[in-house]
Order: sequence, then C-alpha cells, then structure tokens
Amino acid sequence: MMTSEGRHIPIIRKALRMVQPQFRLDFASGVHGVPHWSRVWIHGRALAAALDVNPQVLAWFAFLHDSQRHNDGHDPQHGRRAADFAVRLRREGVIAERAGHEFEHLCEAMRLHTDGHTVGEVAILVCWDADWLDLARVGIRPHPHRLCTEPAREPGLIAAAVRLATGTRRDATR
Ligand SMILES: [Fe+2]
Repeated sequence: MMTSEGRHIPIIRKALRMVQPQFRLDFASGVHGVPHWSRVWIHGRALAAALDVNPQVLAWFAFLHDSQRHNDGHDPQHGRRAADFAVRLRREGVIAERAGHEFEHLCEAMRLHTDGHTVGEVAILVCWDADWLDLARVGIRPHPHRLCTEPAREPGLIAAAVRLATGTRRDATR
C-alpha cells in the first residue's frame, strides 16, 4: 500500500520534469533549487496535516513557487511568473489534481509569497509558512511574528526547521 507521502511523488516528479528544462539557476544545489523545495514540501506536508489542508496544493507550491526566478536575489515578479506558469501547466493538463478553488489558492500563494502578508485562506498561509520556515538556509531565523499559522509558530518546529535548513544538530542561528 502506498504511504500518504508516496501518494505525492507523481506530482513532484511531474513538477520537476516541467521545471528543470527551463530553470535558470542552480537546480540541484542552489538556495532556490531542489534542496529548498524539498524542505518546503516537508514543512508544508506537516502543516497541511495539522490544519486539514489538501497536501497536493503544498506539493505543487513547493516545487513551482521559485521555478521562474531569474536570479537568487531581488526578483519581485518571480511569484507572479510562477502563477502564470502554473496556469499554463493546468491548461496543458499537467496540473490535473486540483479542484478549481484549490488551484486558485495555489496561484494566489505563489503570486504573493514574497509580499509579507500574514492573513488569508489557510491553504495559502500554509504555503507561505512552509517557505518561511526554510529561511535559515540563508542565515535568517524564521521569526514567529512573521509566520501565519499557529502550528508554524511552535518553537520546537521552528528549531527543527532551522536544523534541517542548516544541516546541523544544533540551532545554528542562535
Ligand atoms: Fe522559496
């Protein structure tokens, strides 16, 4: 029997197959590449379970939200481009799992994911928190006030996210 984690592997494979050929940055090891997207998925999956959100939204968000970056620094339009990319993938039948309102949540989450909002639909908030929880990879400790959902603000979860992002047993941002 397939585990709940295993159920999402086809989505992740599909997303990576579409993203890799057109990705402009370091796909395998960049700060906005597969290692980051995988950790966003780990956090998103956990938060989705805690808040009763469809994890498929998180799987697509994790592997698409930075897929249209032109650089690893200031690129304020990359979320909008990612949403446009998702619309194209849906039109082409690649994104077929999403009900209409969930697809809208996915696109909205990507469009606004760097704008600093903290209120909205819970499915969108979980996407943003999953991304923010991985900030320690660039030396920034995720601040509870910047996180949108109660489970993400849990100190133990933040500490675990920091350890995962920095590859340390101890919290390297303290
Ligand atoms: Fe990200």
